[in-house]
Amino acid sequence: MQTNYIGEILERKKLTIRDIMKMKNNKKIVAITSYDYPTTKIIDEAGVDVILIGDSLGMVVLGYPSTLQVTMDEMLIHTKAVCNANPKALIVSDMPFMSYEFNKEKAILNSSKFLRLGADAVKLEGGSEYKDIIKSIVNSGIPVMGHIGLTPQKYKQIGGYRLLGKNYQEAKEIYDDAVQLEDSGIFSLVIEYTAYEVAKKITEKLSIPTICIGSGPYCDGQIIVINDILGLGDYSPDFAKKYVDLKNIIKDAIINYKTDVENGKFPEKFWGMKSEDDRKKFFES
Ligand code: KIV
Repeated sequence: MQTNYIGEILERKKLTIRDIMKMKNNKKIVAITSYDYPTTKIIDEAGVDVILIGDSLGMVVLGYPSTLQVTMDEMLIHTKAVCNANPKALIVSDMPFMSYEFNKEKAILNSSKFLRLGADAVKLEGGSEYKDIIKSIVNSGIPVMGHIGLTPQKYKQIGGYRLLGKNYQEAKEIYDDAVQLEDSGIFSLVIEYTAYEVAKKITEKLSIPTICIGSGPYCDGQIIVINDILGLGDYSPDFAKKYVDLKNIIKDAIINYKTDVENGKFPEKFWGMKSEDDRKKFFES
């Protein structure tokens, strides 16, 4: 929460893609995923720049084995929940698997659904093969964030969730994709799980900001899956950092509640009828 010199709370202005783009070389961009209303409220009070409704929700919220199972309908419901919190941060929604790959018309129609709900931009995975599709979405007035490196929707083709760009050929392909994507009109680019040198060279080359996850520190910003930093869930990738062990904090609270109910200590507060006459009448009826 920002305050002025006498401690008054300053209203943060709503961030636009222009604000995010201007952060390159000025301020590290802080991005995080969110999937619901109350978490978005907390994230926004903390003052992050970008909130992504990631299709990671399939794994961390819906219990799916991968992001491949996530549907447009599910992404829309969670986008609505996040938008209902009216965050000042830029809201970006992930385009789920097979929602943009077929043709321009479908890609434009599906991405427009997120903006209608209040999102500020969409993100889609993939490189130069989607250049024309991205161009047509951008030309319809919908800002697009790119996503290269490890693209989880293609984990089967990639051969698992592995670090990419470890050899020259792979590094060059990712770099070339980044250059092509900038040319297609994206306003920023997520680089996931690559050798740090790949992300560094891309960041130095592009004039749009790069936002990295597991690709090292030489980027214009960082993004993380919120469940990983909060310590929710049993698995998190090796590049994530757990800032709090929320799983055990929540478990302790639930055990305390359970113990209180079983021992008659909860509820502590309760309320009765207005008059003794009514009570008597009620029990005797
Ligand atoms: O789905 C997601 O959460 C993402 C981030 C990890 C970048 O795409």
